[in-house]
Formats: sequence, C-alpha cells, structure tokens
Amino acid sequence: MNETVTDYLAGMKVHVDDERCEGHGRCYALAPAVFEPDDIGNAQVIRDGTVAEDEHGRARLAAANCPEQAITIDEDA
Ligand code: F3S
Repeated sequence: MNETVTDYLAGMKVHVDDERCEGHGRCYALAPAVFEPDDIGNAQVIRDGTVAEDEHGRARLAAANCPEQAITIDEDA
C-alpha cells in the first residue's frame, strides 16, 4: 500500500511507557504497522508514533489489549 503525507495528518499519536511495558507483544501482533519489538521484545513505536488513519482501529485495539496498560493514545496530536 502506498503511504502519502495525508495518511499522517489525521491526528493520532501513540506512546509506549517503557516503565510499564513487559514485552507481552500483543501490540505489535495486533498493530504491526504501529508498534514493533525492540531487541528484548518490548514495544517501541514505529517512526514518531504518528498513526495513519487506516491504522487507528488497530492502534486502539492494541492499547486496549496491553495487559500492563503501557500504551497511551493521543487522539489530538
Ligand atoms: Fe509491552 Fe503491552 Fe505491547 S506489555 S509489548 S506494550 S502489549
């Protein structure tokens, strides 16, 4: 799928709290375009955490399924 600049103007941004993340991996399984594992399997956001509009649902699903509640979503970034 081609990504364009307008894909990133919809205003959602995600953040992973490094102190909370325990590497359960649900986020990058559910939203692999938004999160990726680091060297030890903890989550990191892809790019600067800005979420393309067609990934908003998956980003919310990932946040809702994190057992450590490590993911926060800014809907007005
Ligand atoms: Fe970490 Fe939660 Fe993802 S614990 S790896 S942010 S599902």
